[in-house]
Amino acid sequence: MSDNNSVDLTAPTSPPEPRLDTGGAMETLGRSKASRRSFIKGVVASGAVVSSAGYVFGGLSGCTPEQAATPGGVERLLRLNINGEMRSVDVLPNETLAMTLRYKLGLTGTKLGCDRGECGACTVLVDGVPNYSCSTLTHTVRSKEVRTIEGLEGANGELHPVQQAMIDELSPQCGFCTPGQIMSAVALLETNPSPTRDEARHALSGNLCRCGAYDHYLNAVMRAAQSA
Ligand code: FES
Ligand code: FES
Repeated sequence: MSDNNSVDLTAPTSPPEPRLDTGGAMETLGRSKASRRSFIKGVVASGAVVSSAGYVFGGLSGCTPEQAATPGGVERLLRLNINGEMRSVDVLPNETLAMTLRYKLGLTGTKLGCDRGECGACTVLVDGVPNYSCSTLTHTVRSKEVRTIEGLEGANGELHPVQQAMIDELSPQCGFCTPGQIMSAVALLETNPSPTRDEARHALSGNLCRCGAYDHYLNAVMRAAQSA
């Protein structure tokens, strides 16, 4: 018996047939893939633009757009006395002497170890005084004389007595700290040609040697002092 208000419990209750209405779904999926692809392409393209802008502004002019936008943040042409030669070089206001020497003047004998005034690998002489070039702004040495390891060789290319003594005493192990050690030793012997071993140790105390060749370096300084 049935009437219009009753529920027919005998009616089949199977789930609705799956609909393979792929047209709309695939279209939607296609659109979503396309938009995802375009999104990734956009990101990569904008990254490439940013990178190339960095190259153009940073690589060619030597300063980033931020530095260029900062008042005074652009390179200035300086004349520097390096190893007795006047050299012209474009320098940023915050540029360190180590960076100028190594990457603009090609004087790579000056090493960069810590780049924060701790190891002494970057030691050069400024008016005869040992300085950490990683912690010296280039514009501060404009009217001074800078001497690097390259400036020690004699007129005929012969080694400086300190360099020769370092070889004779087998001081360099890996050699990374050697230019800094030599510059400190040269500064010492120019002001004190006959130092005691303790004075030599004190003069080289700002030069760290990871290979631990301290005694070899001291022997070399004493040998150089005796041979002078
Ligand atoms: S690199 Fe300058 S002190 Fe270490
Ligand atoms: S010789 Fe290697 S760090 Fe000094």
